[in-house]
Amino acid sequence: MHDIEQAQKEIAQLSEDLQHHQDLYYKEGQPIISDREYDHMMDRLLALETQFPTLKLPESPSQRVGSDLGSGFPEFAHTIPILSLDKAYTFEGVLQWIERSRQRGESRLSFVVEEKIDGVSLVLYYEKGYLVRAVTRGNGFVGNDVTPNAKTITSIPLKLSQPLTIAVRGEIFLPKAEFERINKSMEIPFANPRNLAAGTIRRLKSSETARIPLRMFAYEAFFDAGETPLTTHVEILKLLKDLGFYVNSEVAVFAETEDRALLEAQKLGMDSVPSGSFQALPSYIEKMNSVRDQLPHEIDGLVVKVNELGVRELLGYTGHHPRWALAFKFEAPEAQSRVDDIDVQVGRTGRITPVARVATVKVGNSMVSNVTLHNQDYINMLELAIGDSVAISKRGDVIPAIERVIEKNEEGNTTWVIPRNCPSCNSILERQGAHTFCMNNDCPAQILGRITFFVGRDQMDIEGFGPETVTFLVNKGLVHDIPDIYTVNYADLVGEPGFGEKKASALAQAVEKSKDRPYRTVLAALGIPDFGRKTVDLLVNGGIVSMEELIDIVESQDRARFLAIKGFGEKTIDALFAQFADPAFRERIARLEKLGLHFKEEPTESEQLSQTFAQEVWCVTGSFTHFNPRSLALKEIEARGGRTTSSVTRKTTHLLAGEGAGSKLQQALTYGTRIVKEDEFLQLLEKE
Ligand code: IVH
Repeated sequence: MHDIEQAQKEIAQLSEDLQHHQDLYYKEGQPIISDREYDHMMDRLLALETQFPTLKLPESPSQRVGSDLGSGFPEFAHTIPILSLDKAYTFEGVLQWIERSRQRGESRLSFVVEEKIDGVSLVLYYEKGYLVRAVTRGNGFVGNDVTPNAKTITSIPLKLSQPLTIAVRGEIFLPKAEFERINKSMEIPFANPRNLAAGTIRRLKSSETARIPLRMFAYEAFFDAGETPLTTHVEILKLLKDLGFYVNSEVAVFAETEDRALLEAQKLGMDSVPSGSFQALPSYIEKMNSVRDQLPHEIDGLVVKVNELGVRELLGYTGHHPRWALAFKFEAPEAQSRVDDIDVQVGRTGRITPVARVATVKVGNSMVSNVTLHNQDYINMLELAIGDSVAISKRGDVIPAIERVIEKNEEGNTTWVIPRNCPSCNSILERQGAHTFCMNNDCPAQILGRITFFVGRDQMDIEGFGPETVTFLVNKGLVHDIPDIYTVNYADLVGEPGFGEKKASALAQAVEKSKDRPYRTVLAALGIPDFGRKTVDLLVNGGIVSMEELIDIVESQDRARFLAIKGFGEKTIDALFAQFADPAFRERIARLEKLGLHFKEEPTESEQLSQTFAQEVWCVTGSFTHFNPRSLALKEIEARGGRTTSSVTRKTTHLLAGEGAGSKLQQALTYGTRIVKEDEFLQLLEKE
C-alpha cells in the first residue's frame, strides 16, 4: 500500500523533474534524458495522480499529455475587451499615425514594433499565478473556452513564476517547417499553417491537440484596474518573458532619438534588438517585408505600439481598436487565376496526385502555374471544377495552395473527379484511405519515379543522373528496375543524343562510386513508403544495423522489436511489412546486395573522436567536393558531438554552406548564424 504522504512527495519530485526536462527540451532544445526515460517518469506520475486524484497539482506537467475525453466548448465572456487593430498599408500611413499619436500623447513617445503573427488569437486568464482559463477571441466579447487544449501547448505556462492575476493575449501558431511536415500526412491537407492551427485548437479531444506542436507568442498583459505596476510595453514584454511565456525576439524600438530608442531596447534584455529614430522605421518595415519568406513562421504584417502605458490610457480606444496600436499589413500573398486543367501524377509508390494547371500568375515573390490538389477529398472540399476562378495563396516558402473558388466556371463543369484508370498504365485505380493508388508495380510512371528517387540528390546522389537520363534509359529498354543502373554499359551509349564520351564515362564512374554509400543511405533510397532518412536513422540507431537482421525481424512478424524503437508507430511497421511482402522488392534488394552495395552499418569512429562540436547545432546545405553525399558531413558533425537539423532556426549555431546554397544561407544571414565554408570545415575537422 502506498502511503499518501509518500505519494505526495513523489508527485512533487516527479513534477519538478518533468518540468525541468520539458524546459530543457522545449526552451533550450538540449534534452539530457532519452524520450523513453521521460515517458517512463510521466507514466509514473499519471499512475500516482490516478490513484490519488486529490494530490494532483493544478500545474502538473501531466496535463501536457492531454486527455481523450470529449469536450464541447463552453462560451466564456471576456473580462477585458478583446479589441482588434487599426490598419495601415503604407509607410506614410504609419508615419502619420505616429505623428498623430505624438501630438495627442502630450509627452515624448517611443514605439515598439512587433511581428504580426498570422495565427489564432488566444486570451489566457491567470489567477494567483495559475492558468484558469484559455479563451478564443470569439466575437471580442464572448469566446470559446478551450482550456484543456491550450494546456497541451508547451509554450503556455500552467503556473507563472509569480502569483499574479492577469490576462495575457498571444497568438497560437505552427512554424512553417512543422506545417509542411504534418500537412503531408493529413487526410485533407490545410491550405496554410493558420488554418491548421485554428483547427487544432478546436479539436474535441485534447490528446489530438497535443499531437500538433503548436506554439504561442505572448504580446500583451492586462492587470486588474489600477494594479498595473508597469509603465511601458517594454516592461510588459520583459515581465511576460520572466513569467515563463515565449516572447517573440523579433522586436524593434523606435523613438525621437536613437539614444532613447537604444535605452528602451536594452531594457528588453534580449540580444540585438534593432532600434533607431523614427526616420529609420520605414527601412525596418521594408527589411521585415523582404525577409518575411525566410522567417520560420508566417507573419502578415507588423504591429506598432505606443510604449508608454500612461499615454496608452490617454489615447484610449474606439469600439473596435485601441488608438495606441496600429497594424502595418503586408500585401497579401494571394492572387486570382483560372484552373485550365487538372492533371494526374503517379508517384513512385503509385499514389495519385491531382495537380491543377492554372494560368500563370505571380503570387508573392514567385510565379505559380501548378498547384497540388492532394486528393479527392480536398477537391470535394473546395468543390473545384475545371474553368473555375480561384484564389491562390503562397505563404513564404510554403507550397502554393488553392484557398477557395472565387467564381464558378460558365461551361457547366461539375466538381472534378479522379479518373478510374491510371494515366500511365491504364490499370484500374484503387482508393485507400484518403488517397488513390495505381496498384500495378510495373506501371511505367512508378518505375520512373522509383529510379529517379533512388539516384536523386537527397538519396544516392549520383551525379549527372537526372530525370532525363532515367527516362532515356527506361524508354530505351536498358533499365527496368533500380539494379539495372549498375549493369548498363554506359560506354555503349556514346553517340546517343546527349551522350558524349565525357558524359558517358562520368556517369559510369558516378554510378560505380555510389556503391560506397553507407547502408543508411541505400535503405532510405529504396523509397519504402513512410520510411525516410529520419526513420532509417531511428531503425539503425535502435540497433537494427543490417538488412539481414531487418529481414529476420520482418519475417518473424516481430512487431514488438520495432515498437521498442521510439518514434516507430504501427503505420510505419505496416508499411515495412507490406513492402517486404512484395517479391519484386525482395528481388531488388537481393540483386543490389550482389552488385556490392552496402547492406550493413559500418562501425563509426565516434568513440575515438574528441567531442569538439558538443553544444553546437549544425545545418548543412549545398553540395561539396569532399562530402558527397552531404550525409557524410552530417556524420562528421555528429561524430564530434554536434547536433544536426534539416532547417536553419534561431537555435542553429553553424551553417555549413556548400556550392549552390540558397534559402538556408539567406536565413542564416538574417539570424546571424555562423557560416562555414567547406575549406574551413575541413580545418575544423583536422584540428583535433
Ligand atoms: S496586439 C489590443 N500584437 O492581430 C491589441 N496583435 O488584427 C491587441 N496579432 O486579434 C492586439 N500578432 O490576434 C497584437 N504582436 C501582436 C500580434 C497581434 C498578431 C493579431 C491578434 C489580433 C489581430 C488584429
